[in-house]
Amino acid sequence: MPQRIDQLEAEATRDLAQVADAAQLEQFRIKYLGTKGAVKKLMGALKDVPKDQKPVFGQKANALQQKVQAAFEARKAELASGASAAGVRLDVTEPGLPPRLGRSHIITQTMDELIEVFGRMGFDVATGPEIEDELHNFSALNIPPVHPARDPLDNFYIQPAEGKPDDGSDPQDPLREMHLLRSMTSTIQIRVMEKQPPPVRVVAMGRCYRPDEHDATHCSMFHQIEGLYVDRGVDMADLKSTLFQFAHVYFGPDTLVRLRPHFFPFTEPSAEFDVRIKLGGKWQWMEIGGCGMVDPNVFEAVGYDPEQWTGWAFGLGIERLAMRKHNIADIRWLFENDVRFLRQF
Ligand code: DAH
Repeated sequence: MPQRIDQLEAEATRDLAQVADAAQLEQFRIKYLGTKGAVKKLMGALKDVPKDQKPVFGQKANALQQKVQAAFEARKAELASGASAAGVRLDVTEPGLPPRLGRSHIITQTMDELIEVFGRMGFDVATGPEIEDELHNFSALNIPPVHPARDPLDNFYIQPAEGKPDDGSDPQDPLREMHLLRSMTSTIQIRVMEKQPPPVRVVAMGRCYRPDEHDATHCSMFHQIEGLYVDRGVDMADLKSTLFQFAHVYFGPDTLVRLRPHFFPFTEPSAEFDVRIKLGGKWQWMEIGGCGMVDPNVFEAVGYDPEQWTGWAFGLGIERLAMRKHNIADIRWLFENDVRFLRQF
């Protein structure tokens, strides 16, 4: 009888080693642990064992049952976790999944391209802070204290902290300098000219903020590129040829371009800059920014002598440039970060 038990254990161990899936495991369970299984049968045979051998036999049989049960549970767990060799099915001839490459956002790509295009025309790159003061966002740009461009409804002014601000000004003074999120990159013109004497030839890019209602063409945060050129004898013809050159490189050599008279406080004369673009199969003039000859008051605010120096400046919307070039109909798509949209660029 004890040999019978050892034999059964050897058989069960061998059978279990060959179990490769859940169906075979179930067969194993029925064969050994089921109500009519070999182990149960062994227990049933206990009654025929001579009385004096019963304790030894009983113990051995119990131990066997526990062993087989434990081995069965262990195999079951193994199969469930897919850890066994037969559980993991790997077809090495299947084509692999291509790894997805990340890429720059289309706005970043556009800014890189702009730096490249203007770089080739001899422009350095300047930067400035997104939180500005009224001096750089308005006063030095010839925007007087009562100008509508300063309207609190058109700007993100920053609420001063409780108590006296760092600059020691009186919070009750209506003429006190406030801080705001810059509403245009023209602020950087001032920052550059404050720091360096003429001549100047720079572009500057970055985020701007205005509390506009969001729709297909407006967003309260957007990007601009600013250009500034100051030297002796700089004139409007040079501004025009630079912008035309840029449009031909950026949009293609057949692009038509025009300047339309306009008004900006910081330039005199001023113009708006349009390109002719095919949109939805129709040719249209599209405004992409403003430009003009730097106003002598701006030069005086930064300590440049307007009798000696002349200059021009421009400011273009980067979203507009990207939207026109890539035929993007809605500015909000640029900020929703839906990868199905972003992956196209
Ligand atoms: N700052 C203007 C705006 O945000 C754009 C602009 C116009 C910039 C004329 C300039 C300029 O530098 O000369 O609408």
